Amino acid sequence: MSFAQRSHTCGEIRAEHAGQTVVLNGWAHKVRDLGGVTFVDLRDRSGLVQLLIDPAKLDPKDIRNECCLSLEGVVRLRSEQTRNPKMPTGDVEIEVTGFQILSAAKPLPFPVSDEDQMNSVNEELRIKYRYLDLRRPSMSKKFALRAAAIRKMRQYLDDRGFTEIETPIFTKSTPEGARDYLVPYRLEPGKFYALPQSPQQYKQMLMVAGLERYYQVARCFRDEAQRADRQPEFTQLDLEMSFVKQEDILELIEGLCVNVTNELNQEFDLGLQEVEPFFRLTYQESMERFGCDKPDLRFGLELFDVSDVVAGSGFGVFSGAVEAGGKVRGVRYPGGIVLSRKDVSGLEDFCKEFGAKGMASFYVARSADDGEGVMALPNGMFVRGGCSKFLSEAELVGILTAAQAEPGDLLCFIADEYSAGNNVLYRLRVEIGERCGLRDPKILRFGFVLDFPLVEWNPEGNRWDSVHHPFTSPKAEDLHLLDSDPGKVRADCYDVVCNGSEWASGSIRIYRPDVQSRVFELLGIDEARQQERFGHILEAFQYGAPPHGGIAPGIDRYLMYLLDEDNIREVIAFPKVGGGYDPFMDAPSTIDPQQWAEMGLRLS
Ligand code: AMO
Ligand code: AMP
Repeated sequence: MSFAQRSHTCGEIRAEHAGQTVVLNGWAHKVRDLGGVTFVDLRDRSGLVQLLIDPAKLDPKDIRNECCLSLEGVVRLRSEQTRNPKMPTGDVEIEVTGFQILSAAKPLPFPVSDEDQMNSVNEELRIKYRYLDLRRPSMSKKFALRAAAIRKMRQYLDDRGFTEIETPIFTKSTPEGARDYLVPYRLEPGKFYALPQSPQQYKQMLMVAGLERYYQVARCFRDEAQRADRQPEFTQLDLEMSFVKQEDILELIEGLCVNVTNELNQEFDLGLQEVEPFFRLTYQESMERFGCDKPDLRFGLELFDVSDVVAGSGFGVFSGAVEAGGKVRGVRYPGGIVLSRKDVSGLEDFCKEFGAKGMASFYVARSADDGEGVMALPNGMFVRGGCSKFLSEAELVGILTAAQAEPGDLLCFIADEYSAGNNVLYRLRVEIGERCGLRDPKILRFGFVLDFPLVEWNPEGNRWDSVHHPFTSPKAEDLHLLDSDPGKVRADCYDVVCNGSEWASGSIRIYRPDVQSRVFELLGIDEARQQERFGHILEAFQYGAPPHGGIAPGIDRYLMYLLDEDNIREVIAFPKVGGGYDPFMDAPSTIDPQQWAEMGLRLS
């Protein structure tokens, strides 16, 4: 069907076009029938412009919300009173002289033009009709930003001598800690490709191949439990470099992040604070001070440790935990004195959700008459409530000092084994930060966490597991511990974290076949299995493999940070829901009986 092609885009019409005849193509964003006259906001990807239709001249009844139109009209200046300063095209309107409906629209499953109402539309419905959801300017803007972010990342790496290379999607399992998605191989029933959890092995082979600097905007596939920042398929900016030390990679990724973020912030008016140089913490420091390896450093409220202070306490919850080899640690809740007993018990329930046995607490009063039962301490401070009555004066003073407590605080304590305690305390700290308004979405606080352990003990599997992946290099100075005390071996491994979330992981890699074999062995992969699964890598390392290392930031997560989105689905055009369901395609789906047969498959 022929149609009149646009002379202008909607968003570019201005007062200077007044009097001109224009042809526009787009969608009826909003139709308002005022009896004597019909107004239509016409939308294309550049923006909106108001159309005016005189029913005496043209019949507008077929123009329904979201139908697709071509029209001709004359640009008119709006009168002073009817100008709309909120719209870039608000000084003008188009008096329509003729239109053609290119494509009608059925009644919509949700009101595309009403952002307020869209906020309460069921998300699965939005994804089922993603092609309508994405028509919203607020949605399409996210993808313009995403495209610009990727373009700038590419440019940054291209300028520094990197080569972009695609690696296979049909491949063999690369361990990144999740289950594989498998594709049956028709020609040899019983054999399967695995979709890559990351291009890890290929990028290392590109280093053996002498490419020296590789990157890829890489799709990765992982069958793992879904969370707000995880999708079964997602995108990494995957990169690898040869002849580098850890510091070179850290500098590169920090430079990329600071530059790209600050540029996007300006160009897209994101209203973010300039990104500062990255902070650096060792894994151990991060666990000690923040209880986790992905700390939110927009605020302080560091954890404190009072195990020594309460070791011999009459309060059995505390002294018992220390006796059992655990720790008593806590976190301040500034201004928490206003919380009622019920509020505090709510906070305790929050901790229990993450496995805490309980949460002890007391208030730091602001004066002797700040509530009932205030106890004055020799250091001039006051406490009341909670477990304060079970603790001696000396213990209370010691706790206030360790906590760097301030009048008006609620001090919260978890007594537990170190890592179980950390798991609760880090969430409690973030929750308190959130409630105190300390998690400003306009600040992106990026930093490095360094020196992760190489392996951690997996009690269920009764074996050592890689903390990162099996290709990570142990620190040279810790190599001697590999047999005697593997848990103490640190790796040349680093994460980039932002606002309490992991953005990127990377490491210096093993490039010697003997070291790689030893690490596989430590992970319980015997020689036969090493050959079967990783023979290609072990062999490649015997042909002059260079020292190398790399990193892979998540692109979807980056967009979440920029846009302050709580869910990764908001920055993916066609995301999965639930356990990996695509509501638009209705995938995964059944296959034809003939395909079952061809693949040599049957349901048992
Ligand atoms: P890792 O497994 O830590 O490292 O992944 C790197 C980054 O990828 C992102 N990411 C995800 N994003 C969305 N959904 C998921 N399911 C998901 N899983 C991971 C995160 C994460 O920090 N090959 C190594 C990298 C390397 O060593 O160079 C790797 O894949 O932002
Ligand atoms: P109980 O002696 O179990 O009644 O607990 C006394 C107080 O200590 C209550 O406020 C509990 O929530 C708290 N509590 C119990 N177990 C722990 C723990 N492991 N860490 C911190 N507080 C706890």
